[in-house]
Amino acid sequence: MTEENEVKLTDLPGIGPTTASKLEDSGYGDLMSIAVMAPPDLSTLADITESTARKAINAARKLLKLEFEDAVQYLRKREEVLKITTSSKNFNELLGGGIETRSITEAFGAFGSGKSQLAHQAAVNVQLPIEQGGANAKVAWIDTEGTFRPERIKQIAEGSGLEPEKTLKNIFVARAFNSDHQVLLVDKVKDLIKNGEPIKLVIIDSLMSHFRAEFTGRGQLADRQQRINKHLHSLIRLAEAYNIAVYITNQVMADPAMMFGDPTRAIGGHILGHASTYRIYLRRGKKDARVAKMVDSPNLPETECVFFITEKGLCDEI
Ligand code: GTP
Ligand code: MG
Repeated sequence: MTEENEVKLTDLPGIGPTTASKLEDSGYGDLMSIAVMAPPDLSTLADITESTARKAINAARKLLKLEFEDAVQYLRKREEVLKITTSSKNFNELLGGGIETRSITEAFGAFGSGKSQLAHQAAVNVQLPIEQGGANAKVAWIDTEGTFRPERIKQIAEGSGLEPEKTLKNIFVARAFNSDHQVLLVDKVKDLIKNGEPIKLVIIDSLMSHFRAEFTGRGQLADRQQRINKHLHSLIRLAEAYNIAVYITNQVMADPAMMFGDPTRAIGGHILGHASTYRIYLRRGKKDARVAKMVDSPNLPETECVFFITEKGLCDEI
């Protein structure tokens, strides 16, 4: 895919500065998001006629060279997709092979359910050679809660037969101090890639904590969702443009409407559900076991699997 950042929305026919800023505020600040829209939707959103909307969309598609791909091309693109091992066969199977590039994988669950542990494991495993379930690549880790643990990385690296210090050096960690900073850091990841860093995994642990803390009032909810939407779209673009796996963690809250079963659901509302390609629910099982459940995927069944967290990292049995 071409990098669309050089062309501005105002380069499109019928889109002036006012309309452009309206679109930007709604999270549609780039050509790609316009190119994939339907004319009636753009018309409503930007308050322009449907025929103007159609012209703008077509122009965006042309600029991005978006054409129908034939099946062979599509397959080739899919073949480029890498699957990063979790070190648990069961978990890999649940994910259809591993944590996929060109996708967003979201894990949600209660505290201690293993979301951050999976992040640490993946940050090590992506460095493995491709034949061993890695991508022979580096990691960008956006830490919003201060839960990145270098000692844990060393431990897991040793468990995987990798050199601990070298493994740590391949992980770019940035602490995000607030939601604006978090958003900005995604651009910084792009800069790293443009500077030649072979990054194949981007971790955000956790996605919502700053947004949740900063936008508290009911009146701020729409604004919050809009910003999250924009943030997610830039993550999707990053994943697609550079064949990167994006792994995000998310918290849960009690769902008062749910009377039976597990009364928790992911926070962040529908936009997060739509943006994530794979959603996994993690919970503690018996003893040290963890249960992962695929709750949303375009091509995989809604199954469950059991795995364990040990000193060496994730595994199938202890
Ligand atoms: P929050 O961030 O608090 O929402 O939780 P989380 O889902 O990110 O939890 P995390 O992935 O940090 O899991 C923490 C749990 O992993 C601990 O309670 C331990 O059960 C387990 N764990 C972490 N390190 C080790 C280790 O070295 N050995 C073993 N056996 N378990 C570990
Ligand atoms: Mg955590």
